[in-house]
Amino acid sequence: TIYPLIICGGKGTRLWPLSRTQSPKQFQKISGPESSTFFQVAVQRHRGGIYQDPVIVTGVTHRGTVVKQLREIQSGAQIICEPMGRNTGPAVLAAAHAISRKDPDAIFVVVPADHIIEGPLNKTIEACIPAAKAGHIITFGIAPRYAETGFGYITDAGPMEGFDTIRRVGGFVEKPPADKAQALIDSKSAYWASGLSMFSASTIIEEYAKFDPRTAAYVADSVEFGSNTPEALYLNEVDFAEAASEPTEGVVFEKTDRIAMATLDVSWDDVGSWLAMYNISPRDQNGNVLQGDVIALDAMNTMVRADSRLVSIVGLTDIIVIDTPDALLVARMDETQNVKKVVEQLKASH
Ligand code: GDD
Ligand code: MG
Repeated sequence: TIYPLIICGGKGTRLWPLSRTQSPKQFQKISGPESSTFFQVAVQRHRGGIYQDPVIVTGVTHRGTVVKQLREIQSGAQIICEPMGRNTGPAVLAAAHAISRKDPDAIFVVVPADHIIEGPLNKTIEACIPAAKAGHIITFGIAPRYAETGFGYITDAGPMEGFDTIRRVGGFVEKPPADKAQALIDSKSAYWASGLSMFSASTIIEEYAKFDPRTAAYVADSVEFGSNTPEALYLNEVDFAEAASEPTEGVVFEKTDRIAMATLDVSWDDVGSWLAMYNISPRDQNGNVLQGDVIALDAMNTMVRADSRLVSIVGLTDIIVIDTPDALLVARMDETQNVKKVVEQLKASH
């Protein structure tokens, strides 16, 4: 049985002030008051057909938000709450332990909660089920469009014997500097790491124990001694706190010989910055994205989002203005990767 495993504990700091500690990007509406949230779109994308109800792993502070947003789209789910963030490795491993108790043959499709994907994704996933059952850890790659420094890269090492749906992985490069990213693009054999992956629960449990047995044991205990209520499984705090904070890629994917890659022929974006948000939004004839109660005069290639009051701009080009009830951001379009530094400074000073 196939379970979408929606990981939604991230902070999304580059989309401040829309994305806040209490309400990060994945729980925000994608394009203004009427739209669904990133999280809701992710849940709906992996529904019906091959899928069981999703497994949602999130921080305990987000449980209420998750429940409310699931109710809005009438989705069932199993919710697992982390007492604190330990990155995606422990989150995924905890889910594997929790689900495989009831379903030892469970297969997970790990889905980041904050991506925009369009196209035949589920067809590719379905075609990879036999490879996942055979014990492969499949990471999904996207043909890169430009030398993005905010993504990981996977290098292709040719066909995988016995399977025509998956390929061998040469290696991983996480968030390379610009020149390295360009070299990867030029090599023509590198793919963007989409952040989606697929494997059986038993495979990830075995491989985690191989590469970080200490964390593996604590995470297993955090499930064993967690509190299992009808609303959610609350992982045990004392045990989970001991887990090393690492992404699944770093602990397992980069080391295991069971790794494989499948390429996705879909349009995909991790809308990780305001520039990326601008790029996916419909624009008017002057290249402006205006959301909410906005008056823009003599404006070109701007993005203005007014969530709670009237915002007007006059004579601006290549600027983003994000107004929320308690914080306002004004930034140059080409500087939006640096918005996360505002959040760092906020944390240091407040
Ligand atoms: N439950 C849980 N707990 N989820 C988490 C945690 C955690 O502690 N930390 C992150 N997540 C979730 C985020 O909500 C997001 O959906 C996903 O895991 C990925 O985390 P990000 O923080 O967004 O990672 P990234 O964008 O920097 O990098 C990853 O994604 C890129 C593509 O979007 C990497 O996998 C890159 O290699 C990849 O290119
Ligand atoms: Mg991301």
